[in-house]
Amino acid sequence: MSESITPEDAAARRALKADLERFNCKVHQSDDPPLFTRQPQPDMKSVHWRWRDLEPLLERIGQEVALGAGGPRRTLRLHNPGLPYGTTHTFWGSIQVILPGEVATAHRHSANALRFIIKGKGAWTTVEGECYPMNEGDLVLTPAWLWHDHVHKGDQPMIWLDVLDISLMRMLRATFFDPYPQDMQAVSEIPDRTWRLYGSGLMRPPRAVHEEGTNPLLVYPFDRAQEALDSLSGLPGDPCDDVVLEYQNPTNGGPAMRTLAQQMQKLRPGFQGQPRRHSGSKLYVVMRGKGTTTVGDERYDWEEGDFMAIAPWAWHAHSNTGSQDAWLFQVNDLPTMKALGYFKEERG
Ligand SMILES: [Fe+2]
Repeated sequence: MSESITPEDAAARRALKADLERFNCKVHQSDDPPLFTRQPQPDMKSVHWRWRDLEPLLERIGQEVALGAGGPRRTLRLHNPGLPYGTTHTFWGSIQVILPGEVATAHRHSANALRFIIKGKGAWTTVEGECYPMNEGDLVLTPAWLWHDHVHKGDQPMIWLDVLDISLMRMLRATFFDPYPQDMQAVSEIPDRTWRLYGSGLMRPPRAVHEEGTNPLLVYPFDRAQEALDSLSGLPGDPCDDVVLEYQNPTNGGPAMRTLAQQMQKLRPGFQGQPRRHSGSKLYVVMRGKGTTTVGDERYDWEEGDFMAIAPWAWHAHSNTGSQDAWLFQVNDLPTMKALGYFKEERG
């Protein structure tokens, strides 16, 4: 307590601190913030972004921001007000707008990236020579350090969600980036090789033909995800998430990306989920339907096109308040938490 510190004590402490700093050392001081809190105290906030607020902003950046002027991508970042940058403390979510005829030029980086197509069709992505269509509801992966570019061959603007584990990469001081010498890379002779090897989701080559630990599959088309969830609907749902499946690495059944997991869930009409909380952060995209998510004392009434970021250890529960199925796409950093032994969950 500062009242009991005599002028001599304070002077001695200052002298000790100065001596310690000279030799790049520190000791715990009574006025330091607590090192161990009883539970996570995240600086990231839970946030609800409404499509009705985002849509006019997206139209403006489509009209006012030229590709090339501000870089090779036209994106609206989902910024977390509790953080200096990023949507959560581990990853960035941005809404990318691409207009007919445009090319998002080729590059590669150490960050893992994914796209979830929110609106439109007719764009194509090339990842390390493999080329796939990007249509509404599809999940497209760009694992770390693979060359990638996108071209829009359709006739209407397209919108997709970009997610990159940039904050994690920066925290670990592992940033690498290369521009490609041309705008677009060449497409391989067999442009869908890994899809042909692993795309069934049921079977795989008996002998691995990929680097161990990586996921060779680059696309997860929506019709396949929808079919899987519709099939699962014949079973009782999860008390918190109703009908839910995770996109998997077909070589080992693990999450599709090493640092981030993706899930699709369907909340049926009348579903009222139980609350839960866990370490790690996540971002939801409302693909279809409407409902409510309570997060701590807050209530997010969401509808199609909305986004929600949930902070670590926040109690949250979903319900479907509409008359149709509600579809939520989710990205979370739980693979990182689990790999490091930091994952903890409580269900209410
Ligand atoms: Fe990129």
